[in-house]
Amino acid sequence: MARQAWNPEQLPDLTGRSYLVTGSNAGLGFFSSEQLVRAGASVYMTGRSPNRLMDARAALRRRNPDAGERAHTLLLDTSNLGSVRAAAATVAGRGRLDGLLLNAGIVHPPKERETTRDGHELVFATNVLGHFALAGELLTSLAAASGRMVWLGSMSTSMWKYDPVDPQLVEGYTGWRAYVQSKVATTALGLEADRRLRAAGVDVRSEVAHPGYATSGRTAGIVGVNSPSRLSRFADNLQAPITQSKEHGAWPLVRALVDPDAEGGQFWGPKTVVRGEPRRGKASKITRDPEIAARLWRVCEEATGVSWPLEKAAAV
Ligand SMILES: NC(=O)c1ccc[n+]([C@@H]2O[C@H](COP(=O)([O-])OP(=O)(O)OC[C@H]3O[C@@H](n4cnc5c(N)ncnc54)[C@H](OP(=O)(O)O)[C@@H]3O)[C@@H](O)[C@H]2O)c1
Repeated sequence: MARQAWNPEQLPDLTGRSYLVTGSNAGLGFFSSEQLVRAGASVYMTGRSPNRLMDARAALRRRNPDAGERAHTLLLDTSNLGSVRAAAATVAGRGRLDGLLLNAGIVHPPKERETTRDGHELVFATNVLGHFALAGELLTSLAAASGRMVWLGSMSTSMWKYDPVDPQLVEGYTGWRAYVQSKVATTALGLEADRRLRAAGVDVRSEVAHPGYATSGRTAGIVGVNSPSRLSRFADNLQAPITQSKEHGAWPLVRALVDPDAEGGQFWGPKTVVRGEPRRGKASKITRDPEIAARLWRVCEEATGVSWPLEKAAAV
């Protein structure tokens, strides 16, 4: 059983451990990376823009002079399967990997449907397919370290119960629907991954976490990482009782990734759902449906051409 007592500002010693965070040049990914290096871990900060990555690493080093050298940058565009494969090959070749934080995401989708160079709908490709492929490509590395993967869910899946029968929204695209469907998918896949890993005897745990409602305007200004306008500060502060900073929003993500008592197949979020200390919660009903999850798994295998090497990972 996972303990309820957990101090998010005092993590277990992670010296010698290595993690990869997608979308770590901003928002929750940046603060998760920072919390991990502060606890002694090495982190691959990954992102799609070399300049934004360099700025974020510089900020992290500025804020953490003693820990910042454990932050390394790596280009990884989750919407591009070639980029995912290349980054995975680099990481697999460098040795130990204890955890993947599958965080990158388009949170403000385009109004009109767009597709990637691989031909997939942009939001589904970025939030879901790239992470499915990355986790599959790095599964044996994770298994070698008895590691863990954390998928990013969202409380929006409790309010909009979209069944992703058409996950790439060939028909009826709206930006919001694309976003919520992608979060139904990441949550369902995170829980399905846990079932498949257990069934195959792979020593890797899969968890799902969400940050509540975490906004830039409630987050410290950091050059190169977070510079909200005065208007968004004002608007976000009006919502203070139901929001928190991205630094605090990162707490459940990091707990899911490093709490030694987390068992796999669990769902983590803030205490009051929207804000607060990280606790175990309950994923929305639609994301717990194994038939929907199995259907999504097949869609991801077909779209990415990646079939998770479960037998190989079990033998590591
Ligand atoms: N904030 C919340 O309240 C909230 C609530 C529920 C769930 N979430 C989830 O939490 C995750 C992070 O959200 P956030 O609030 O931190 O958002 P954010 O501040 O907008 O950061 C998103 C991160 O994802 C990166 N990203 C976007 N497209 C990418 C791509 N193709 N390849 C690689 N990286 C890419 C962004 O990089 P660029 O700078 O290059 O765009 C950025 O680093 C998302 O999965 C989101 O769905 C957030």
